[in-house]
Amino acid sequence: MQNKSFYITTPIYYPSGKPHMGHAYSSIVADIFARFKNIEGFDVFYLTGTDEHGLKIQREAEKNKKDPKKFCDELSATFRDLTKTLNLSNSDFIRTTEDRHYKSVKEIWQRLQKSGDIYLSKYSGWYSISDEAYYDEDEIISKNNKKYSKSSGSEVDWVEEESYFFKLSKWQNKLLQHYDKNPSFILPESRKNEVVNFVKKGLKDLSVSRTSFTWGIPVPQNKKHVIYVWLDALTNYISALNFPDTSNELFKKFWPASIHIIGKDILRFHAIYWPAFLMAANIPLPKKIYGHGWILSDEKKMSKSLGNILDPIEIINKYGIDQLRYYLIKEVSLGNDGNISLKNLEDCINNDLANNFGNLCQRVFTFVKKNCSNKIPNSKNFDKVDLALTENLIKTLPALIENMNNQKLNNYLNEVISFSFDANKYFNDLKPWELKNKDPERMNAVLNTIITQIKNISILLNPIIPIASENVLDFLNVPVEKRKITFIKDKNVFDYQKELNEFNILFKKIENDN
Ligand code: ME8
Ligand code: MG
Repeated sequence: MQNKSFYITTPIYYPSGKPHMGHAYSSIVADIFARFKNIEGFDVFYLTGTDEHGLKIQREAEKNKKDPKKFCDELSATFRDLTKTLNLSNSDFIRTTEDRHYKSVKEIWQRLQKSGDIYLSKYSGWYSISDEAYYDEDEIISKNNKKYSKSSGSEVDWVEEESYFFKLSKWQNKLLQHYDKNPSFILPESRKNEVVNFVKKGLKDLSVSRTSFTWGIPVPQNKKHVIYVWLDALTNYISALNFPDTSNELFKKFWPASIHIIGKDILRFHAIYWPAFLMAANIPLPKKIYGHGWILSDEKKMSKSLGNILDPIEIINKYGIDQLRYYLIKEVSLGNDGNISLKNLEDCINNDLANNFGNLCQRVFTFVKKNCSNKIPNSKNFDKVDLALTENLIKTLPALIENMNNQKLNNYLNEVISFSFDANKYFNDLKPWELKNKDPERMNAVLNTIITQIKNISILLNPIIPIASENVLDFLNVPVEKRKITFIKDKNVFDYQKELNEFNILFKKIENDN
């Protein structure tokens, strides 16, 4: 039987500057879901990439005196490098300047034209280059003779030019029906309400081409126009599956997408424009759009002018990637904004990773290496306390899986790390060092229990801290194909004859000078 499939995406980022913590956050979150579905037994396709057209990028390239394509080549490479630094399991990395994407965007344009959803007219209104977004009069505020978007705070310019329009208004009711029939199409709930209210106020037709600059995909049949960068960018999600070839294996297997992970800033594009484009082009809609909150630093959104930017690469170099991944998920509750700081990162590494999970592995493995001829001790006689420890985790599995499938990442993590806390307590209470001479059989049962528990915790932590988790499972010689949710209940994953591998300390404690 073929495995079930799961397709997850991040936003494709503007390579207008180097990647920052917000980009890292979305990609890490998506990676955790991707890795979880993988250990749950799904075939996973995880897509990320860069969004390279439009006036914002053209201007940035001009500022740097570079040809836009060259400019994008360089900066897109830093985003591609980041996928390695973040230890992402992405299946592909798409750039909107690739041929495969041009083909796909041209096809979608032609479908929209054929269905009668596109007409030529004139646009006049406000446009933010920074957001690549059109705003209505009531979405604008004036300050010192300049105009800004109320929602993003970015400056807007008045634009007047010939433009093709997409008949967005025509899809208003179909969209509302879709939100209504599919209660988890937009999550979290609060985001969904925002979208529904916005659509209910009435949708205007959307300008989907520009003539005042050239850095974009030309409109087929009218090369004076380039396609609006958001229509271009959103299409990446199907370009990577070889659209317009809808009968190829990738498209058949992975479309519609299981979930688009995005930040709340780009909800309107994903939850309104994208499904409307897809309906008009007669393509099935993605199943879920999850708009997460902001990463804040010093309680403010990170920005260059505030000087509160935390550079993911610097942090990873200093503390490690597993540490950053763990901390972001622990500290920030996925649908909400969350503040991060180096002080809290250090505390989290010490409390949860070094003193809790790391220490558990360290003391148990050191003890076993020394006292059990470097092999996992086996046993058949387990006491109630032993069974209580391991069975508690197994009983919780359905709830853990449910948490992940409902994007309750925080709950999942807190639950799993509490098992590690309990396991440390069990080790302290049962004192295998006292059993060593008194009752070696009982000692074996205790050690087998706690190693089983460490193995299971490591499998569950794998999506979040893959490097540490794999170190532990390597140490225990757990076969790679058994590092899956279905093998959590399996007691026969250990090779009791084989010597244990080398073990290096998982998480160094951060020593504080003050
Ligand atoms: O909008 N906290 O690209 P972009 C959390 N190219 N997440 C953050 C963040 C923060 N402080 N700052 C950014 C674009 N993000 C378009 C997307 S998709 C078809 C096209 C994350 O480079 C978050 O996911 O401005 C946000 O939606 C995204 O980066 C915006 O990245
Ligand atoms: Mg942005």
